[in-house]
Amino acid sequence: DMGGHDTYMHKEISEQPDAVDRVLRGRIDDRFSTVHLGGLNLDAREARTIRRIKILGCGTSYHAGLIGAGLIEELARIPADAEPASEFRYRNPVVDPDTLYIAVSQSGETYDVLAAVQELKRKGARVLGVVNVVGSAIARETDGGVYVHAGPEVCVVSTKCFTNTVTAFALLALHLGRIRDLSVADGKRIIEGLRRLPGQIQEILKQEDEIKKLAKRYADAKSMMFIGRVRGYPVALEASLKLKEISYIHAEAYPASELKHGPLALIEPSLPTVAIIPDDDLLEKNRAALEEIKARSGQILAVAHQEQEKADHTIVVPKNETELDSILMGIPLQIFAYHTALALGRDIDKPRNLAKSVTVE
Ligand code: F6R
Repeated sequence: DMGGHDTYMHKEISEQPDAVDRVLRGRIDDRFSTVHLGGLNLDAREARTIRRIKILGCGTSYHAGLIGAGLIEELARIPADAEPASEFRYRNPVVDPDTLYIAVSQSGETYDVLAAVQELKRKGARVLGVVNVVGSAIARETDGGVYVHAGPEVCVVSTKCFTNTVTAFALLALHLGRIRDLSVADGKRIIEGLRRLPGQIQEILKQEDEIKKLAKRYADAKSMMFIGRVRGYPVALEASLKLKEISYIHAEAYPASELKHGPLALIEPSLPTVAIIPDDDLLEKNRAALEEIKARSGQILAVAHQEQEKADHTIVVPKNETELDSILMGIPLQIFAYHTALALGRDIDKPRNLAKSVTVE
């Protein structure tokens, strides 16, 4: 049942305010400015002994893991990184007893992720899951974890589950942070930011008509470049994947800082750039990248907290706490990919060559 929407993707994008509300519900503890994660299975003493966190997933879940790693480093000050599960399992990784491993999966059935979890468990590692489907294979194989509560996702490409997974990582990062060195005041600030998310997502959804016009403008591009820095870079990766998957337009994502190390050679009027530019301490650096693109007559669509003078168009996103900004910045680009694919007459819910859950190697 699409509930009045033309596609599941549109329905699932629109459900995000409620979905995010669900991942937060019942977990916030205002008294100690932290969150309770019932299924984590990791007590405070154990949490303090973690030296490093390694996050594993595929596709969109890997991108959510990259944002998760950033949140954990920022809020909990634990070194963290994410890697595609398939790469990890084939390179005979060093499994370290002081590292906490986290497997991320919407379906909970992705074979490469499951195989990575099994290999880790065999070597005695502690593995948690950040999973959407309750009781799925990955949920069962892990030692504990955080359910994402996005609800069923039918469209082959992931939207609401990405947003909820990233929000679940914010909860985990806050939880670990408050066990370690995150102050009560910062905990409170993040909690208030989390509570603003559903309303802010609603505000983004209201911009659909304008985003649709932009999508139509760029729909005849042969290729698009997506750039961002630090918190914006994983958003660029995910937005570029979404565009590729459903519109079949070639897209690349680069850290804005890497442009001058090569991809700048591609910039010319027929290659538009989507720039993710949060209002953070990298704003000026990002603006400099826009100037470099403009100097080569590249078109720019910015996703930012304020109009960008150098951009041809800006999608303005509501500002949250800096640490949480990346949760919101991907959403207008889901809508952008959707309307680009629609303008090109693509089969949005079932893109060619793709399956919802990849249970093969
Ligand atoms: C992207 C997409 C895929 C999945 C990937 C992992 O829109 O749907 O990239 O994210 O196949 O799937 P899960 O999260 O089920 O492990």
